[in-house]
This record gives sequence, C-alpha cells and structure tokens, in this order.
Amino acid sequence: MGTLVALEGIDGSGKSTQASLLNDQLRDRGFDSVMFREPGDSVFGDKLRQQFRDGRTISAKEEARLFIEDRRIDVDENIRPALVAGKVVVMDRYYFSTMAYQGALGLNTYQLRKTNELFAPRPDLTLILDLPAETSAERIRAARGLPDSYEGTEYLRRVRELFLEFCESDVVAVDAEAEVGELNAKILRKVLAVVEGP
Ligand code: TYD
Repeated sequence: MGTLVALEGIDGSGKSTQASLLNDQLRDRGFDSVMFREPGDSVFGDKLRQQFRDGRTISAKEEARLFIEDRRIDVDENIRPALVAGKVVVMDRYYFSTMAYQGALGLNTYQLRKTNELFAPRPDLTLILDLPAETSAERIRAARGLPDSYEGTEYLRRVRELFLEFCESDVVAVDAEAEVGELNAKILRKVLAVVEGP
C-alpha cells in the first residue's frame, strides 16, 4: 500500500499551491507521487461548481451528498488504485472538508466522518493549513476582486474552528500565514517523515 496525505484548510489558505509544490518535490525525490483535488470532475463535482457559481439553492444535506458521491468516484477511480500501486497520493481537499464545511452548515460532523470512512481510506497524515477567516477573506478579495461579505467570513470562521477540533496525532495544523517557502518547508518535512518511515 502507498501513502495517503491530505491538505485541508479554508479558502485562501494556499493549499492548492502547497499541494502541487509538494507533489513536484516528492517526484523530484524519486517518489511515485500523484495529486488529486476535490471536488473532482464527476457529474456531482460539476453540479457543485454550478451551485457555487450561480448561487446555492440546495440543502446542506444535499450538498454533503454531492460531495460524498463525487468522492466515492475519486476513491474508486483514482485514490484506491494509486494506493494499491504503492504510490504517494497527495489530496488537495478530502473528507475533512466535508466534515468542516457541511458541519458548519449544521450537519453532524461525527455522522459525516462515519459515512466517509465507510468507503474513503483514512489518510496517513492530514495537514490543516490554518489561518484566521479575516486573513482568508482579505486574500480572496485581493485575488478575485470580490467584496468581503460578513456572512462569508462568519461561515469560514466556523469552518476553521471545526477543522481545528479535528486535530489529533495524524491530523496536524500548520500556520498558513507563514510565507509560501517557509510553509512549504514545514509541510515537506512532515510528509517526508511519514513517507520515509521511522
Ligand atoms: P476548491 O475547489 O478547493 O476551492 P478553492 O481552490 O477555491 O479552495 O473547493 C471549492 C469549495 O468547495 C470550497 O469553498 C470548499 C468547498 N468544499 C466543501 O464545502 N465540502 C467538501 O467536501 C469539499 C471537498 C469542498
């Protein structure tokens, strides 16, 4: 079996940048590393992106269902085959995102975890790229030219709090306010400790 690493965090935490940097560095070091991102490109992922673009009209429960169905396909078609082939799999978001984002909409995080862990392999290491919701809102505004919304920042604050509640020995928060290179060095060190073993 390979090694499964997940990068998580609120919007604007820089996890997509960090996930692809990490994937490149693992490959440079000779690891057979692949990266997948969620939501993926299944019909369920398409429906979710359309919801985010055109405004949310579905319930939290339906939203969770779509993320989970999208993930089921990702696990079957991408994640599990890569792990069976002995690869390192880097995830740009995984099921902790459903627990935090849909949990912050009022769904039960424990139930969400159970539903996901019935089919989705548990990561060997999950890194939560942590930063305050206000910093995230500023970064999003700067990058996309979108105005700050009080509701949006409030929501991200709840998502962040939930992410932090999930921390345990194999779910670790790292300071995502750090500069890109510094954050990358920290992530790489933690991931190498897992893929290279003791
Ligand atoms: P993503 O494509 O990672 O957006 P970005 O690259 O801008 O961070 O994710 C899109 C949105 O989907 C993001 O706001 C987080 C949300 N999301 C959930 O609400 N639940 C989930 O299970 C996942 C995977 C993502």
